[in-house]
Amino acid sequence: VRELFHNTSQIKIAHRGASANYPENTLPSFQGAIELGAQMIELDVHLTLDEELVIIHDATLDRTTDHTGEVAMLPWHTMAKADAGSWRGESFRHTPLPRLQDVLAWLPNDIMLNLELKGTPHTAARLAAHTLNALNQFHCEERVLLSSFNHELLATLRKLHSNIALGAIFYGRLWPPLALAKELDLFSLHAHVASIDDAWVQFVRSQNYEVIAWTLTTQKHVQVCKESGVKAFVVDDLSLLSVS
Ligand code: G3P
Ligand code: MG
Repeated sequence: VRELFHNTSQIKIAHRGASANYPENTLPSFQGAIELGAQMIELDVHLTLDEELVIIHDATLDRTTDHTGEVAMLPWHTMAKADAGSWRGESFRHTPLPRLQDVLAWLPNDIMLNLELKGTPHTAARLAAHTLNALNQFHCEERVLLSSFNHELLATLRKLHSNIALGAIFYGRLWPPLALAKELDLFSLHAHVASIDDAWVQFVRSQNYEVIAWTLTTQKHVQVCKESGVKAFVVDDLSLLSVS
């Protein structure tokens, strides 16, 4: 991850995979992202009742599968039967929900992951520990950036792992601006596209933290981010970044 950011001027991060073209957070969406030129894939991780790591955005199955119920209250064997594709069209019928281990087993060597740890306040500590174990088991630590809106969870990750790349996601601004970044030795600050501006981006970058802007949906977003000096862009639609 550090090498990618050091050597690349435009980092395309596929939000939930190529989610404009495929059912989000599924293997076809991740494969599609690579075909469309992403170097990094963003995906969301939750913990099931029986402590499997499942890739899904929401805390429930309702929006993106043909099942219902809370992820944290269901065992994996129930979720394994869910169809996470047909809500996006017949051609995606029977696309399964992936687990983190399925993604790590599939992941091509040159592709990076941005794992966003969701879970709930009650599952956060176990979600952190299980995620690190899986990355260790698949020898993927160097290719993964772990991020979260839950900054306490980031602190747990840092206690458990002294040098894995961590990023804080937030709306608006963090205050004091770099206190969290210094305290947790963060790699990156993940700012909502609406709060990107030149002075802030330049300040953060001058202190050697990376800025990641999420989630860009228009050419105007791309333009504002580029003019501010952002070089890592989270997008649903990768074609937004192919226009210069
Ligand atoms: O990592 C940025 C973005 O994924 C955060 O929002 O809700 O799409 O996971 P969300
Ligand atoms: Mg996310």
